[in-house]
Amino acid sequence: MATVMEDIQALEARHVLQTYRRQPITLVRGEGVRLWDAEGREYLDLLSGIGVASLGHANPGLARVVAEQAHTLLHTSNLFFHPLQGQLAERLAHLSGLPRAFFCNSGTEAVEACLKFARRYWHTLGETRTEIIALENSFHGRTMGALSVTSDEHYRAPFAPLLSGITFVPNDKPEVIAQAITRNTAAVIAEPIQGEGGVQMLTPAFAAAINDACRRTGTLVIADEVQSGLGRTGYPFYSAAIGLKAQLMSLGKALGGGVPVGAALLSEDVARKIAFGDHGSTYGGNLLACRAGLFFLDELVGGGLLAQIGRVGRHFDKQLHALAARHSIVKEVRGMGLIWGLDLNIDAAAVVPAGLARGVIVNRTAETVVRLLPPLTITEAEVDDALARLDQALTDVTQQRTN
Ligand SMILES: Cc1ncc(COP(=O)(O)O)c(C=O)c1O
Repeated sequence: MATVMEDIQALEARHVLQTYRRQPITLVRGEGVRLWDAEGREYLDLLSGIGVASLGHANPGLARVVAEQAHTLLHTSNLFFHPLQGQLAERLAHLSGLPRAFFCNSGTEAVEACLKFARRYWHTLGETRTEIIALENSFHGRTMGALSVTSDEHYRAPFAPLLSGITFVPNDKPEVIAQAITRNTAAVIAEPIQGEGGVQMLTPAFAAAINDACRRTGTLVIADEVQSGLGRTGYPFYSAAIGLKAQLMSLGKALGGGVPVGAALLSEDVARKIAFGDHGSTYGGNLLACRAGLFFLDELVGGGLLAQIGRVGRHFDKQLHALAARHSIVKEVRGMGLIWGLDLNIDAAAVVPAGLARGVIVNRTAETVVRLLPPLTITEAEVDDALARLDQALTDVTQQRTN
């Protein structure tokens, strides 16, 4: 007889478009940093659904407000006012320094909105500035605009032609990006930490070069904080930590704690160039999304989570470097707070199933990197427990290679 897992997988194989190569486990329940599969096996989650389950799984407070909102009013569209969208926008404004928000439902939509707003800015000013500078090793999403500023040919090639006028420059050469930004550049888009790109962190010197060139030429800066923002590094936004001055910012992932929410934040100067009807979304900023976002920000700022991330992050840093020192396959440890990459001198693919076998969920990105994005609520004791399992998994992978 087929197991529950075999039934689920067979049904998907027949009817779900096959775009994801899933790991062969079926997750059915969660609590905090723990997940359980259909066979009752427990895992410590160092990935949080790629940086989304920011408050841990089945967070009781989030569950309560989501249920309350579902019993009150979920959705009205943007044709009417509701009480929560302005509140969420105000809270994001205080946290980011960017006073206006446009709400959408995902990271790629937030990037898409930023690109459109940058285009609209120059159109309003009557200038034909449409060129965009993006970074090598970038990932901004899968819709056509976001894909156009994503560097990986593997993602791009099947969908060509993409937007024209995009130039990719190295992510670590201040003098090159400074030269590339001209009076024809509409905007520069950058992830302060390139998460999909293997947890590559921009430096303050690189940020300063962008700031200087953009100030000189009037070019807009879009900080894509979908992965690095909202407390992930222990800072509200990593762009501010490295001094990158953005007029536009894209957010997603952590904001809804699992409820799909995205946002594009804008400076007042850019916002003034946007007119009624320029952009829209049926779902964007509905009551459910805003209620979840408000609850997340309450926890992050009011509930002391930001300070906890800083503390647990330093512990993570220490323990991860100690782990790396025990494994010759680890070449480099990169990250901060609760976003980390272990860059290996082998393909990291084998670490994922080895981790599952040892009861820890991690992700492989940029071929050689084991990426860790745990729930922001993870404690020191849970870090120790999860890293002990990862330690075993890395030993298993090393042994498999020598056998
Ligand atoms: C920096 C960045 N931007 C945009 C996206 C796209 O977000 P989504 O998958 O929610 O569309 C991602 C997703 O990983 C991301 O890391």
